[in-house]
Amino acid sequence: MGRLSDFRSGFLALAGAALASLATPATAQQNLVMYCGVQEEWCRAMSQAFERETGVKVAMTRKSAGEVYAQVKAEASNPRGDIWWGGTGDPHLQAAEEGLLEEYTSPMNKDLHDWAIKQWNAGKRRTIGIYSGALGFGYNTKLIAEKKLPEPKCWADLLNPKLKDEVQVADPNSSGTAYNLLATVVQLMGEQKGFDYLKALHKNVNQYTKSGAAPAKAASLGETSIGIVFIHDAVVFAVEGAPIKAVAPCEGTGYEIGSMSIIKGARNLENAKKFYDWALTPAAQALAGPAKSYQVPSNKNSAVPAQAPKMSEIKLIDYDFVKYGSSDERRRLLAKWDAEVKNLPK
Ligand code: F6P
Repeated sequence: MGRLSDFRSGFLALAGAALASLATPATAQQNLVMYCGVQEEWCRAMSQAFERETGVKVAMTRKSAGEVYAQVKAEASNPRGDIWWGGTGDPHLQAAEEGLLEEYTSPMNKDLHDWAIKQWNAGKRRTIGIYSGALGFGYNTKLIAEKKLPEPKCWADLLNPKLKDEVQVADPNSSGTAYNLLATVVQLMGEQKGFDYLKALHKNVNQYTKSGAAPAKAASLGETSIGIVFIHDAVVFAVEGAPIKAVAPCEGTGYEIGSMSIIKGARNLENAKKFYDWALTPAAQALAGPAKSYQVPSNKNSAVPAQAPKMSEIKLIDYDFVKYGSSDERRRLLAKWDAEVKNLPK
């Protein structure tokens, strides 16, 4: 009896081990490590929907665009991430140029807007546009009225000395939004005047945050009067009923092409491609609106969220993505901002 049960449990243990060894490679195939560059809620909606539809287990972390870029670069000799989904296009382009991303041509490309394909061409097929949105600011109407401050309508208005410590914006090293601002003022005003503008703005900045959309939330909570953000990030709080007005600056403004890339050396390459194709479908892009993300989607057949700012009504500059997404230029401008703006006394 004893022997028989020993034999049985031994057999079961062996069979279990054999099954486990068979299961290991299959399980490994069913993972995806996603670095996500948009708002947490949209990141979660995307990773959960993809998991549900495919059974692929997604390990997602949300980070700002400059931070994901730095992580992908630091991990280049031993890549941990598979897909970098979302975030402003400039750091994706820089990573593409530096050989950190995988080339890919999706069968979905034919359904995308020209601006999304332009991004793909600029990145030599290593990154693609998934949404776009214009830069601007949001202000707290109550605070502005209480403080008897003029309602800001233009970039120039943010330099008003009465706005000392009333403006919040992110740090361009970590945040794609803030780098977009840096590149926008340089393109709009010229480099010298653009930096003069950022130095003058510095006097009114109460905090350089890590994430780009944080100043919109702070403005909605009354922690700052004005937050420089993508306009869609200010709209989120206006839609929720906060006293926030979103502004497209009168002089004209820059915009982003939010992007997606497969990381070079991805361990779960097939799943990364699967995600990439799926993320470009109208069904996947429709997850944005309910997750309070009001960017313009890149698939021509995707519905644009009703709350999305109308790009055709905004005075947009002809943002040079190739130049400002190039490795040399992005590095140079960030170093210059660090040296000349960040630590200026007030
Ligand atoms: O999801 C909001 C959003 O503003 C995106 O439109 C943009 O790509 C991203 O966040 C930028 O985030 P950050 O400035 O933190 O890099």
